[in-house]
Amino acid sequence: MSNHNLIFKHFVSTKKLNSGMVMKLIHRAIEFKKMDRSLLPQYPGHFVSNVFLENSTRTHLSFEMAEKKLGMPVLSFDAKSSSVSKGETLLDTLITLEALGVDTVVVRTCEENYYEELITSPHLTLSIINGGDGAAQHPTQSMLDLMSMYECFHRFIGLKVAIVGDLIHSRVAHSNAEILARLGAKLYFSGPREWYEEDFDRYGEYLPIDELMSQVDVLMLLRVQLERHDQVDSFDAETYHRLYGLNIERADRLQEHAIIMHPAPVNRGVEIADELVMSPHSIIAEQMKNGVFMRMSILEAVMNGK
Ligand code: CP
Repeated sequence: MSNHNLIFKHFVSTKKLNSGMVMKLIHRAIEFKKMDRSLLPQYPGHFVSNVFLENSTRTHLSFEMAEKKLGMPVLSFDAKSSSVSKGETLLDTLITLEALGVDTVVVRTCEENYYEELITSPHLTLSIINGGDGAAQHPTQSMLDLMSMYECFHRFIGLKVAIVGDLIHSRVAHSNAEILARLGAKLYFSGPREWYEEDFDRYGEYLPIDELMSQVDVLMLLRVQLERHDQVDSFDAETYHRLYGLNIERADRLQEHAIIMHPAPVNRGVEIADELVMSPHSIIAEQMKNGVFMRMSILEAVMNGK
């Protein structure tokens, strides 16, 4: 199986993917995961730059690793020392990178849907991969999450997935709910009611966390994103953990085959107990590993569009 016939000009939202595209990306990522390093295809003529205007460890570095494994030259970009700090717009930054010879940019910013004006701009021809836009979409995280679930269950139809926590502020929740529902998964949501929004009703059902433990195949926990909250003072980590977090007692009620996922970074002792982060049910480290291979798969499909 190869994704050589998958062609993307841009990769900005899960809403633009159909199930055939999803499966091709997953199979190609699994192929990359098994491939000897010496056999990896090399694309030395494809220049990439990672423009992260919001902090990141996993997405930024796994893209850089993916780019380097595929032999793509990476033009380093540091937001703090760049002219963004002098007020240069994202459009002007990308026009500059394109003028220098960059073919594809990976962009992360807090501005939701930033890519709409860029992909329609008559001044840009480079490809844009969305590395996360505010609370809206994190399509490459969704794809690595789908790959990780597929490796465990080999299906999405009827898979019972609970997404738990800071739903309203989570781009991971928004993009995963959208694509998982279209792939036929049965979705549940949980966490503080005030962090739930009606929009999620389109995809699944809200239930208290204690009703979910014994029935789900996938328990996907979300980071509490205090940086996106208006009222940080009222948050108490201990109370959150007791009411909504995954503790030992709740984890003991998971089915034998159930998996624990988290996009990370993890707030240990808040959404998940410290000792459960690397427990046998947890595939959190595998998600990070799969991020490199899925991003290779996506980069290759974008490179095919050139
Ligand atoms: N999961 C994720 O997007 O992590 P980073 O913010 O570290 O990239």
